[in-house]
Amino acid sequence: MPDENGHFGEFGGRYVAETLMPLILDLEKHYRAAQADPEFAREFDDLLEHYVGRPSPLYYADRLTEEVRKDAPGGKGAQIWFKRDELNHTGAHKINNCIGQILLARRMGKTRIIAETGAGQHGVATATVCARFGLPCFVYMGTKDIERQKPNLFRMKLLGAEVIPVESGSGTLKDAMNEALRDWVANVEDTFYIIGTAAGPHPYPELVRDFQSVIGKEARQQIQERTGRLPDLLVAAIGGGSNAIGLFHPFLDDADVEMLGVEAAGEGLNARHAASLSGGAPGILHGNKTHLLQDEDGQISEAHSISAGLDYPGIGPEHGWLKRIGRARYDSVTDDEALEGFQLLCRTEGIIPALEPSHAIAAVAREAAQMDQDKIILANLCGRGDKDIFTVADALGAEM
Ligand SMILES: Cc1ncc(COP(=O)(O)O)c(C=O)c1O
Repeated sequence: MPDENGHFGEFGGRYVAETLMPLILDLEKHYRAAQADPEFAREFDDLLEHYVGRPSPLYYADRLTEEVRKDAPGGKGAQIWFKRDELNHTGAHKINNCIGQILLARRMGKTRIIAETGAGQHGVATATVCARFGLPCFVYMGTKDIERQKPNLFRMKLLGAEVIPVESGSGTLKDAMNEALRDWVANVEDTFYIIGTAAGPHPYPELVRDFQSVIGKEARQQIQERTGRLPDLLVAAIGGGSNAIGLFHPFLDDADVEMLGVEAAGEGLNARHAASLSGGAPGILHGNKTHLLQDEDGQISEAHSISAGLDYPGIGPEHGWLKRIGRARYDSVTDDEALEGFQLLCRTEGIIPALEPSHAIAAVAREAAQMDQDKIILANLCGRGDKDIFTVADALGAEM
């Protein structure tokens, strides 16, 4: 748990404009009331089961495991298991959090919903829950992301959302979040901001984590039922860090379970990348203190990743804390390695992953090859790849 001001160690907090402070405090008050209300949990669980399709399966990737063993030193090649969150309604883990936040918005009597999106998955999930509950939805999206995630743009429009293009900065997730925060300041009375990752001012990192923890809770039970024990290593890709913290959190007290968060190394850590823990420094952005890509003057640098969902110069504050106390490790995977991970899963398992979890897949293959065969890796497959096939075709120079 963060402290009462939302700090995880030195990270987190709520650094927001005075206009937003009453809203943030009100949100926290309503969240605490919702946590204590069994009816809130009942409605959340019911929607997750019957609307989202949870629990998502836990799948043993035996052909991928065999493929890794072929090139691994003798006796090496850990067993690879995937939590199939790409099978959720709308195709990613983002919907878990949106269900929780739309229920909160309704409790608070808010009538207008805003969101930011990078890969478009959070935008689609927000547009989906808004359609489900009949609330108007406005999604901020960078112009670069609009270009590379066209299928999701159209999905949002079909669902009745208005997508507002953001041209400022690099036209990616950071800029979309800036605009969403501006909108919120200007429309404090009726508007609820559904943040898509475990970042932003307190209590967002905590509440997004809690809603996404369904991933880890299910996975913890499923792996014990299937193998009779806990995994040795958890792996998840990190944009802002919500699917990773959702997987990790229910295992934090299991001292023997290692955790690995995988950031996007883009063109390499010495070139353009989005690895804020591996290549950034502490600073303040979007209402919280966290690791950020920045220059010597503290100006935020442009992030780069082939994957729109990882293309963010910051990371949720709890990850900074987990790294600081040594509870989780963080590594990075380049665009090229992610493309290899993408193709590897397509070929060996008949699953087309999103480019975000393709980073985790590349790291899983790397880690598994160094671990004994009786070890278990559990990775989150946090999104499916339909949205990315044009980007991948382009990167591979393939004909569509
Ligand atoms: C499929 C998918 N995975 C991962 C991410 C990264 O977000 P987070 O780190 O919050 O899980 C995104 C973000 O858009 C996404 O769409």
